[in-house]
Amino acid sequence: MSIGTYHVSVCAALPFNRPNSDGESSTRMKSRILSQSALLLASFILCAPALRAQEPPPAAPQHHPWDDKSLSPDQRADMVQKEMTLDEKLQLVHGTGWGALMPGSPIYPGSNWGASYVPGIPRLGIPGINMQDSAVGVRLSALMGRYSTLLPSTLGAASSWDPAGARLFGDVIGRELRDQGFNMSIGGGVDITREPRNGRNFEYAGEDPLLAGTMTGNLMVGVQSEHVMGDIKHYAFNDQETGRNVYSANIGKRAARESDLLAFEIAIGIAKPAGVMCAYNRVNQVYSCENDWLLNDVLKKDFHFKGWVLSDWGATHSTVKAALAGLDQEMPGDDYFGDALKKAIQDGQVPMSRLDDMDHRILRSMFAEGVIDYPVMPRSVVNPFKGRDDAEHIAEESIVLLKNENGILPLNSSVQSIALIGSHADVGVLSGGGSAQVDAPGGNVINPHPGGANWGETVYFPSSPLKYIREHAPGAKVEFNPGTDDASAAAFAKTADVAIVFVNQPMHEAMDRPTLSLPDDQDALVSAVAAANPHTIVVLENGGPVSMPWAGNVQGIVEAWYPGIGGAQALSDLLFGTVNFTAKLPVTFAKDDAQLPHPEVPGYNLKDVPHMMTFTIHGKIIKHAMMDKPMFDVDYNKAGAAVGYKWFEEQHLTPLFPFGFGLSYTTYEYSGLAVDSDGHQATLAIKNTGQRAGTEIAEVYAELPQDAGEHYKRLVGFDRVDLNAGESKTVTIPLNQLCLSIYNVTNDSMEMIPGKYIILAGPSSADTPLTVTFTLSK
Ligand code: BGC
Repeated sequence: MSIGTYHVSVCAALPFNRPNSDGESSTRMKSRILSQSALLLASFILCAPALRAQEPPPAAPQHHPWDDKSLSPDQRADMVQKEMTLDEKLQLVHGTGWGALMPGSPIYPGSNWGASYVPGIPRLGIPGINMQDSAVGVRLSALMGRYSTLLPSTLGAASSWDPAGARLFGDVIGRELRDQGFNMSIGGGVDITREPRNGRNFEYAGEDPLLAGTMTGNLMVGVQSEHVMGDIKHYAFNDQETGRNVYSANIGKRAARESDLLAFEIAIGIAKPAGVMCAYNRVNQVYSCENDWLLNDVLKKDFHFKGWVLSDWGATHSTVKAALAGLDQEMPGDDYFGDALKKAIQDGQVPMSRLDDMDHRILRSMFAEGVIDYPVMPRSVVNPFKGRDDAEHIAEESIVLLKNENGILPLNSSVQSIALIGSHADVGVLSGGGSAQVDAPGGNVINPHPGGANWGETVYFPSSPLKYIREHAPGAKVEFNPGTDDASAAAFAKTADVAIVFVNQPMHEAMDRPTLSLPDDQDALVSAVAAANPHTIVVLENGGPVSMPWAGNVQGIVEAWYPGIGGAQALSDLLFGTVNFTAKLPVTFAKDDAQLPHPEVPGYNLKDVPHMMTFTIHGKIIKHAMMDKPMFDVDYNKAGAAVGYKWFEEQHLTPLFPFGFGLSYTTYEYSGLAVDSDGHQATLAIKNTGQRAGTEIAEVYAELPQDAGEHYKRLVGFDRVDLNAGESKTVTIPLNQLCLSIYNVTNDSMEMIPGKYIILAGPSSADTPLTVTFTLSK
């Protein structure tokens, strides 16, 4: 056993060696704890070389010829590759196992206890790659006693329609990954909201390819600005969790390119990410991670993606097929890309040039993002204050005002009593779970226990709406009722001037919601409170769209999503009007499940499906979606490219709340829309017609020429416009040419077709008062 292996076993054992005091005398316990402390110290010293193994070589200038930063990333990668042995080449194309993700799994020396680790090549000055999940903040921090900022859900952040906000979001993640010793993020989810009940929608950026692609792309620009490699996932069509390992998303090429894949194309074009993670599911019957069309043809050829394709964790299903189809790295282990790939190369089934291409993509990305030039070590302490402030700013831009009857909001000093009800609003805000779960500082505020969050646990963060609402209303009586009994909540609400009911929808990876309805009969709670108090406001903390049968009976509706560690402050500032609402919905809210392309989540009710796990949330059993059989198909062609608002428009359906909708404490007027002759940009004027400053999100849509055969409009541009009361501005909004194009299956390209384009502009997808046309000649 080498010294290195010895270090691993000691290091790996550390967190699982908790003292067990059963039946021990206090003297024995003390002496055992002392000897364990000595072991701990010794272990730390022994571990130190292992930790140092991930440090870069001494930064001696020109130590290696490829240290020369004036060379391109491709040149530098080529130079390294010339020196690599076959085993070194193979070492880069797979991870070293489940490690920290699976208690009991060995931790490889040099691993930073993240989701995966790829050892570096110290003799060539190539550091290891330490990856961590980080969709809304860095995951698994409790494991190492670290702190990470919980940002609002990415779906929430997408409601800001603010690319600068998305960059800030990414910057927080990149900064805290780097502080904690990681050099790659595996966040970056851009699967569009095709299935509104998908348990992971909160990790993604909504239903529209332009909005989702722009926000996710900018988020990854933020991550990579910290010299941390970024990733975009889950490629592709992983729009539901039910049966995610087995279903086949069946979709025609044109619809594919104009919907889900367009979001990836836009995000990848903006971020130029180091990695793209291929998904668990199959696409047109072929697993995503061995799908030649998806990986080679579309991603690498058409999207000009220069980084590497890594598989989702356990989503590799073959060696030769996957390698030839374009998979560059197996995660998290080496079942297919370890010895099996070596043999396939030696047998000539996979050409050496393919392995070289895999390595080149990895190495050029490491050079391009600066993880070799600006190594992550040494670690630093995360700045939690800056993180919280950034999270609060993002939350302010994320929370959407959906209803404000009779101007019930903003609340003011005339309100003498406020009844706060439900969702633990006395102590915290809800977070999303699964691999996007961030560990709460001090632990789950509603269920304190040692260690980080358990998989499937509903975790509330210590950001108390009650506390901050009280701060805004020092003269008022502000009390809380848990909302667990409808009658008592209603009686409580009756005594107050205003009732604010918090409702929640916990969501996490590996599950979907069976319906759009709020869980736990919360609809009944809201109805009971609304019947008792005519001045009822509902605050939603949810992962994705929900139905609201009570919407007509309450005066105010505020969509807070999962608002992050600064959530309660942002929310109370918005409720009291010290900050104005600016956000707009990145998803359509259907009235009910019957309005959706699939009224039932496909596969959810398949009878003979062996569910590998079930979760209990709030006392109810939720089916785990990681089913191993039988295979089943999901008909993506039913909606085709008509996802979200496009579906509603095509089907002549009126949703509950349309895509792009959101109110403000001021009002705006649109005028003067013009478009240039080739559809590159539109100009329009917006006036703030209200009494206070605000920021309006202007939306520009297009109806394509008749030959496109579409019966819906597409979002083609947008902008956030800051306006003081009474102020007018004329803005020029670039129109995304891909969003004005159709995918020509014969020519295999995105093309604008000749004919008349109608450009529409306004405050939401359902309200576009301005139209203008331009004609593209043949
Ligand atoms: C998820 C990925 C995640 C990976 C590693 C998978 O189950 O689908 O999004 O990055 O686990 O945690």
